[in-house]
Amino acid sequence: MSNNLLAGKRGIIFGALNRDSIAWKIAEKAHAQGAKFVLTNAPIAMRMGEIKDLAASTGSEIIPADATSMDDLDNLFTKSQEILGGKLDFVLHSIGMSVNVRKGKHYTDLNYDWLEKGWDVSAVSFHRVMQTAWKQEAMNDWGSILALTYIAAQRTFPDYNDMADNKAYLESIARSFGYHWGVRNKVRVNTISQSPTPTTAGSGVKGFDGFINYAHEISPLGNATADDCADYAISLFSDLTRKVTMQNLFHDGGFSSTGVSDSVVNKFGSEE
Ligand SMILES: NC(=O)c1ccc[n+]([C@@H]2O[C@H](COP(=O)([O-])OP(=O)(O)OC[C@H]3O[C@@H](n4cnc5c(N)ncnc54)[C@H](O)[C@@H]3O)[C@@H](O)[C@H]2O)c1
Repeated sequence: MSNNLLAGKRGIIFGALNRDSIAWKIAEKAHAQGAKFVLTNAPIAMRMGEIKDLAASTGSEIIPADATSMDDLDNLFTKSQEILGGKLDFVLHSIGMSVNVRKGKHYTDLNYDWLEKGWDVSAVSFHRVMQTAWKQEAMNDWGSILALTYIAAQRTFPDYNDMADNKAYLESIARSFGYHWGVRNKVRVNTISQSPTPTTAGSGVKGFDGFINYAHEISPLGNATADDCADYAISLFSDLTRKVTMQNLFHDGGFSSTGVSDSVVNKFGSEE
């Protein structure tokens, strides 16, 4: 299905690692809706090579950039505008990583060097990306900047560990920078708070199987898939959402508003 919702729009998509990645699905749908974009990921992720298939199928170029390196980001935004032939209309930040999660460090025993690394990659990088675009005046008026987040920023999910704190910081950056972008360029900045999704980053969280199934049973509409998330992202890049900004937008099948569902009650209740 294509309605050319993004015809004539140019963007940068961060975070497509493999076919499971949420950013991968967003890139495919953005292409189907007529967008042109540059794909980027950390140099280390490039070595896995899968991103080349996505570049081929979407007619995109790849520019490696570590989202914590200002030099890499400066180069990325400069070259992207050259390649795409003008300023940008959308940017997707789909990046997350916690060293403490990866190494199985418990929240009550965090390694602070690892915490700082994960915070920089997962949260501050969003500021770095926007500050680079800001200084280069790289965004067209009425553009859209989007990052992905998780409800652990508001509610406790014990095994989400320090990523919960990183997501709270990320969502705050969206509001804080969103103000300045709105005033100067009518650019909107939002975060999508997505259901648990089976990807490389998602599956790295301890107990992921348990909480993806639990979320599915609680949510009246069931979990939102990566494909569903891509549809939502396209709407936020399109001109149909121009006055939505500085919002954390739950895309979770109703999970965030539901206390309990009949199916979960039935699992725990005693039979009459
Ligand atoms: N999977 C879930 O359950 C879920 C739920 C809600 C939100 N999210 C968020 O969605 C986003 C995308 O994650 P995903 O689930 O598609 O997993 P993913 O593993 O496919 O994507 C994470 C990406 O971050 C990139 N990355 C890591 N360090 C980087 C760096 N220094 N510079 C540039 N890129 C770097 C990785 O290479 C990878 O492409 C993340 O922000 C994640 O927290 C995921």
